Amino acid sequence: MDFRHQVTSPTTLGQTAADALILIVEATAPAGIADPLLAALIDDAVTGGDFQMKAGRTLYVHRPAGLKTPRLAIVAAGGTSPKAFKAAVAAGLAQIKVLGAEHLVVAASESFALTALHAEAVCAAVGDAVYLYRHTKPSAPASPALRKVTLACRKAESRDIAAGLLRGAAIADGVTLARELANRPGNFCTPTFLGERAKRLGKEHGLKVEVLDRKAVEKLGMGAFLAVAQGSSEPLRFIVARYDGAPKSHAPVVLVGKGITFDTGGISIKPSAEMDEMKFDMGGAASVLGALKAVAQLKPKLNVVVLIPTCDNMPSGSAVKPGDVVTSLSGQTIEILNTDAEGRLILCDALTYAERFKPSVVVDVATLTGACVIALGHHLSGLFTGDDALAAQLLNAGDSALDACWRMPLDDDYDDVLKSNFADMGNVGPRAGGSITAAMFLRRYTAKYRWAHLDIAGTAWKSGAAKGATGRPVGLLTHFLLSQVQ
Ligand code: BES
Ligand code: MN
Ligand code: ZN
Repeated sequence: MDFRHQVTSPTTLGQTAADALILIVEATAPAGIADPLLAALIDDAVTGGDFQMKAGRTLYVHRPAGLKTPRLAIVAAGGTSPKAFKAAVAAGLAQIKVLGAEHLVVAASESFALTALHAEAVCAAVGDAVYLYRHTKPSAPASPALRKVTLACRKAESRDIAAGLLRGAAIADGVTLARELANRPGNFCTPTFLGERAKRLGKEHGLKVEVLDRKAVEKLGMGAFLAVAQGSSEPLRFIVARYDGAPKSHAPVVLVGKGITFDTGGISIKPSAEMDEMKFDMGGAASVLGALKAVAQLKPKLNVVVLIPTCDNMPSGSAVKPGDVVTSLSGQTIEILNTDAEGRLILCDALTYAERFKPSVVVDVATLTGACVIALGHHLSGLFTGDDALAAQLLNAGDSALDACWRMPLDDDYDDVLKSNFADMGNVGPRAGGSITAAMFLRRYTAKYRWAHLDIAGTAWKSGAAKGATGRPVGLLTHFLLSQVQ
């Protein structure tokens, strides 16, 4: 998608040359349309009962009289924040994207002061609206014709907006990659496929990408990762991808993504209802690759390492059994009490591997626990870290990217339940506080660096009629990475 900005006179907004215009008006401040033709049109629609100044209401007008644009969508926004703006743009796009328009202009009424974050919000809304999964669905409808979006702005806003559009376009690309990877079914998106896709990303953006196979992982001694992978005939991969934007002396940020390409639960098998959604269990991996793609386009002065342990979690004659004890790369032993708590097993070895990069900070991203969905639902990702400064940075990144997270506790009191009579730790605690004890398990592998964990079990995909990957938290991660430039 081609994102531009254009300094536009509000008094002649309706004369803008484009295939379509989305005009966002603030619901509580209906005045502020300087173009007399547009103002009269809105007045008339409100008087006639065809449009209401209520958040989310839209009015579509085809070939509005006297205006240059052949398609006009007017949307009432519930405020002037980037979040309200994004929701309004999305509502306008729902009308416009099914039409023939190739060039869309988005404009806001006078009460908006547009910032870089508003520009990013436009990119995010457009990216979300035009993405369509089609890889295994030949009958999918044709993609929207839209190929160029111009954000109308004032002169004073244009610098910020240009920067926001650049960042927003890169994030939208990353989100689209993450959505596409996560949407692909488990028989397409295998660990081998993810490894190849990472290699291709490296070729496209000049990144160093290494993909380790089982032999290499055995040699390293990743006993926990190997235990999860051993039940599947699909070979595992360990992906190491690097973006080097700063001198070697700069400690890198390491992102670790859970890459379970299908989670049956293993011998502790899951119920069959909704098990199909466990193809999304590589959402963490997809998001760190998406963030890497965004950063590779934005080229900040920063070093980033992405680590992805990826395999299937299957029951079979060779699968790991409840009660089996394995030795992790850290040397700590683990009694695998529940084979469905596999995410932490593949992550702990990747977290130990991260030590060799002497990272400035490590963030892991995982669809880790159903308990996190119970705690936070589907709006906020769970954030776990003992580092207050790091928590603030990640919370901030999430807020500005409109991809928010919520801090959860990580208290020593929660650690006791991981005790085992047969190993240094068990891999599960009781049901209560399940997302916290999962984070406590990971914490045992992160003593050597600053670390945070994002549980995206509730945010990485949608269920029901809109079933599909969201691409979260690519926005949060990209904002966080950009905040780490020294
Ligand atoms: N991938 C799941 C977590 C999950 C479940 C994400 C449902 C989204 C929706 C993870 O591997 C898992 O199975 N976790 C178990 C842990 C339990 C056995 C301690 C869970 O949450 O039930
Ligand atoms: Mn599981
Ligand atoms: Zn899982």
